[in-house]
Amino acid sequence: MSLSNAVVLITGANRGLGRAFAEAALAAGAAKVYAAARDTASIDLPGVVPLRLDVTDPAQVAAAAAECRDVTVLINNAGILRGGSLLAPETLTAARAELETNFFGPWLLARAFAPVLAANGGGAVLNVLSALSWASLPGSATYSASKAAAWALSNGLRQELRAQGTQVTSLHVGYMDTDMVRGVAGPKASPADVARQALQGLAAGDFEVLADDISRQVKQSLSTARPAYAG
Ligand SMILES: NC(=O)c1ccc[n+]([C@@H]2O[C@H](COP(=O)([O-])OP(=O)(O)OC[C@H]3O[C@@H](n4cnc5c(N)ncnc54)[C@H](OP(=O)(O)O)[C@@H]3O)[C@@H](O)[C@H]2O)c1
Repeated sequence: MSLSNAVVLITGANRGLGRAFAEAALAAGAAKVYAAARDTASIDLPGVVPLRLDVTDPAQVAAAAAECRDVTVLINNAGILRGGSLLAPETLTAARAELETNFFGPWLLARAFAPVLAANGGGAVLNVLSALSWASLPGSATYSASKAAAWALSNGLRQELRAQGTQVTSLHVGYMDTDMVRGVAGPKASPADVARQALQGLAAGDFEVLADDISRQVKQSLSTARPAYAG
């Protein structure tokens, strides 16, 4: 799936990895990049087409699919991390919000854009997941639950969209240097590097991209006697 002359729509494209995706898509020769964001005034990247889109709002998702009939690559990037202790009552609210954005949002987007992608020859969907699709950390188990659900969604979409020629690629990464984990110390991947690797994997037809050492180590541990998810 070549990015050259592709028409790419990226959710949450105003900052963080989404903005890096927009830059990388333009650099890879995309014909058009829809930079979708809840607040289009926050989009500052030249050369993109701003699009108002809250991924949790079914009416806005439907409107985006009706308006952007030329999309060939959908990047489900928008995400939130709320977290909290599983033993605290308020964490239920946080978990529901994470599922709305990280699981139901990409599902709504994929469903709405499937006919658009089919009409344009198949195209591709790239889902931004995490090393935490396969493991939990204290305080962010609800985020892991949402990213594990999104992993299952990505695998299900791959099977269901194959018939119409749509490629589905999952991106897993550990910590990246964005607002989401600003308070976390330690090594973090550069969003620009992650976006570049993900688009390279997409172009190569890969079903999965592991963009950093953390995601590679976590995946490798899954078949060991003490996998990362055992804690
Ligand atoms: N940072 C990490 O360490 C890390 C690691 C693995 C995976 N990820 C994943 O990478 C993706 C990008 O995250 P990031 O690191 O770039 O985080 P970020 O800097 O916090 O950016 C999150 C983006 O998602 C958007 N967003 C949140 N809720 C939305 C909604 N309901 N509708 C539309 N857009 C919404 C935000 O828009 P607003 O500006 O309107 O809030 C923002 O553009 C997420 O899926 C995240 O889970 C991040």
